Amino acid sequence: MAFGPIMTIPNKNHTIILAPFEREDSLEFINPGMQQMGVTKYLSRRSAPVTDDEYEWYESIRKAKDNVIWGVWLEHNKTRELVGVTELMEIRYSHVNQATSGIQISKPEYWGMGIASLAHRARTWYAFEQMGLHRVKSAVIHGNIASRKALEKVGYTSVYTERNDMFVDGQLRHTDCLELLNPAETFWAQWWGSDTPGEEAAKARERTVETLQWCEKHLRT
Ligand SMILES: CC(C)(COP(=O)(O)OP(=O)(O)OC[C@H]1O[C@@H](n2cnc3c(N)ncnc32)[C@H](O)[C@@H]1OP(=O)(O)O)[C@@H](O)C(=O)NCCC(=O)NCCS
Repeated sequence: MAFGPIMTIPNKNHTIILAPFEREDSLEFINPGMQQMGVTKYLSRRSAPVTDDEYEWYESIRKAKDNVIWGVWLEHNKTRELVGVTELMEIRYSHVNQATSGIQISKPEYWGMGIASLAHRARTWYAFEQMGLHRVKSAVIHGNIASRKALEKVGYTSVYTERNDMFVDGQLRHTDCLELLNPAETFWAQWWGSDTPGEEAAKARERTVETLQWCEKHLRT
């Protein structure tokens, strides 16, 4: 599956575009990007990648059969800058259809501008409206407040916590394992079966419905 198709997300101050990127573009993610501890400390990787690592990674994701990946491009003054990457990985079509999501805005100067929140909307729309997934999983290490908030806004909720999963900034950190459920009736009913979803799940469903409605109105594909 490799790269996902272009999705343009217009916004007040800047436009975000989820789109493929070329091998040379991937060097935007390093130097300094992922060579900075601040960018990777809440990810499972510990090493600072160099050009050859990036090229190897690029070839692996380009050929992968179980992921969809997008560059996160920021459009300003009619130029496009690659500021990060987001993906749906470990995609499994089986008795239920699932994937795991991830995102990284590699340039900290663009953090806190709502870029991840917007990218999550488009990725969620694609996962449910174009891929027919029942569930998207994610995981957030305690302390990564922005990541947790951005995920919750589109409807991710915590399912369970892995205690002492990582050691970051002098502390053992738990990891919250989250899920985002397809709110459409068929998928929702299949997922829950004879169980009654709790209040938290019902509220999260509303947030996901709002996200999808927003995308129907604003997303350009
Ligand atoms: C985590 C990450 C993706 C967030 O991206 P971002 O574009 O800065 O996120 P947003 O600007 O959409 O912010 C999301 C929310 O977090 C809030 N936020 C941002 N930075 C914050 C901070 N340092 N502390 C508390 N809240 C913060 C924002 O205000 C926003 O909430 P709001 O909509 O209620 O205002 C980005 O920091 C990143 O790529 N970090 C490194 C890699 C990583 O951790 N990836 C995620 C792994 S799970």
